[in-house]
Amino acid sequence: MGVAIEKLRDSDKPQVMTLLKQVNMHYVPSPEMPEISWENYAVIRMDGKVVGFCGYKILSDCEAKTELMAVDKACRGMGLGVKLQTYRMEQMARRGIKTLITNCDRPESIAWYIKHFGYEKVGKLKKEHEFGVPDIDCWTTLQVDLEKWAEDFKKVAADE
Ligand SMILES: CC(C)(COP(=O)(O)OP(=O)(O)OC[C@H]1O[C@@H](n2cnc3c(N)ncnc32)[C@H](O)[C@@H]1OP(=O)(O)O)[C@@H](O)C(=O)NCCC(=O)NCCS
Repeated sequence: MGVAIEKLRDSDKPQVMTLLKQVNMHYVPSPEMPEISWENYAVIRMDGKVVGFCGYKILSDCEAKTELMAVDKACRGMGLGVKLQTYRMEQMARRGIKTLITNCDRPESIAWYIKHFGYEKVGKLKKEHEFGVPDIDCWTTLQVDLEKWAEDFKKVAADE
């Protein structure tokens, strides 16, 4: 089984939109997501098929925010999400980003970010309209020190 992460190509956009619909995050443009920062998106392919994607938005010289991410329901729990999140965190760390913010609604995804990537909860933000899980009306804002994460990640990689 071949798994590869690559920068998103224009021809991947329809498959990304299909995955966004799966998680009810396809309302673009909308107040919640006026536009997608396509230049900062990557896809993960399994045997050539797009089965997940992720992106981010640069906010300043040292701050960024993750944008959308989803893994196909049929392919969850196989480590693809960890690969995608690690990839985008490495990309942002290389660009000098020190503080990374993620807004998330699903309790299981919030727990996943905290467990695997060292995020902390820093606040709540009311959703402007339905986006993501319909019966959760606010985002939990998570934050991680990306510089520290990148140092720890390099140490773990060197030990392996
Ligand atoms: C959040 C999300 C992207 C995670 O993707 P995923 O591919 O299922 O995540 P992973 O497989 O990498 O990790 C899930 C679990 O499988 C485990 N895992 C990792 N590698 C594995 C492997 N090779 N085989 C089996 N399990 C593995 C992980 O340790 C993790 O365990 P946990 O349940 O203790 O956290 C996915 O659940 C999703 O698309 N959710 C809906 C949309 C969403 O919430 N997006 C985030 C918006 S902010």
